[in-house]
Amino acid sequence: MSGSSQIAERFRAVDAFLDAHRSFWQPRPFHGDPLPWVDQAPDLAHWLRGKSQDWVDANEDRAALEPDCPPTLLGMHQQAQALCALPLLQGAEQPLDLRLTRGIPGRKLGQIQAFAQVAIPRLTTEVLADWCAGKAHLSRSLAKLSGAQVHSYERQAALCEKAESLASAQGVKLQAHLVDVRSQPPELPSNATLLGLHACGELSDIALSQAHEAGLPALMLAPCCHHKRQSRHYTPRSSLGNQSLLGGLDESTLRLSTARVVIATRRMKRIRANKMLYRVAYRSLVPGTFKSGPESWFTHSFAAFCERISAREGHTLPPFDSEALLEKASAEVLLARALGMVRAPFRRPIELWLNLDRALFLEENGWSIEIGRFCAESVSPRDILIAATR
Ligand SMILES: C[S@@+](CC[C@H](N)C(=O)[O-])C[C@H]1O[C@@H](n2cnc3c(N)ncnc32)[C@H](O)[C@@H]1O
Repeated sequence: MSGSSQIAERFRAVDAFLDAHRSFWQPRPFHGDPLPWVDQAPDLAHWLRGKSQDWVDANEDRAALEPDCPPTLLGMHQQAQALCALPLLQGAEQPLDLRLTRGIPGRKLGQIQAFAQVAIPRLTTEVLADWCAGKAHLSRSLAKLSGAQVHSYERQAALCEKAESLASAQGVKLQAHLVDVRSQPPELPSNATLLGLHACGELSDIALSQAHEAGLPALMLAPCCHHKRQSRHYTPRSSLGNQSLLGGLDESTLRLSTARVVIATRRMKRIRANKMLYRVAYRSLVPGTFKSGPESWFTHSFAAFCERISAREGHTLPPFDSEALLEKASAEVLLARALGMVRAPFRRPIELWLNLDRALFLEENGWSIEIGRFCAESVSPRDILIAATR
């Protein structure tokens, strides 16, 4: 998708869709108050309330595809699908030298291959600025294909060292800058294309600002983890975004946009399940909210979790029977998860809203934009790429 009218038109449509269906996606499950949509769509609530744990586990994101899905959910799903259709950006197959990609984990390599296919035909500069580069796998691969030189920006010294040593072994000119791009945004070479593959949340926004302010000729940004930002809130950047009835996006909305678990190990699944369960069970001992603990706390028994949280929060716990508490909590979690399935159709529209706002901001400031997918969802669900040139 490109061109100001197309992008603006899509933004307005996504914005109107989200605004009209707020009662379905804004209220969070587990947060006490009755869900407002339950009165609007009692048949849907009834359908979801009857579901088993196995069904919810298997259908978290595909309830709308079930043959007996009530029309309210099916309609919202279909509307979201139509609104969020994005083209796969045109590219050309790139002959990455597989000897040089040894050591790049499989999924990352898939992302780099896909990014390269889209990036190489669009590359107009001989300098690349790799933002939140990690070991600079992306920019080294692009440099190998294009002959460009690289500046990489990364806050972990070990990754910077690795980027430089790999680059020198591969004959790539690369300078790794050890920098925290949030607290000290670096000055970028004004003749570089900025590359940002999965720079989390506001780091992608800072990249965009830096590229704009430094007068860079081009950028290619595939943002991720939209909720990771100090302000915990996304403030629109474009003038259309500022007119939106949604205002900005709060932390819970931002989290919703990427909440879908595409690939999870058994350990990750267990932690995720215990997080919901333990929190609900603990709240029945000590009502009110409490700050979550590190993931490792959710890998042990509920009793051990209680000991840690109560010590940290200074709570005195009444005597309790873990098994009974967990049984009651698991029924509550199941119901909340089942009713929460109505939020699934809104994940992608929220993510698209955010990226269209970024694209519109650039466009308003004189950039030409292409926005589309750079890879298959199985390679990465964070597949949206904003490619912009002055
Ligand atoms: C998800 S990884 C992506 C790495 C790389 N772009 C890739 O796709 O392989 C995010 C990287 O950003 C780095 N990072 C996080 N916060 C940063 C900051 N404030 N300044 C610089 N780098 C940061 C992390 O250390 C990590 O290497």
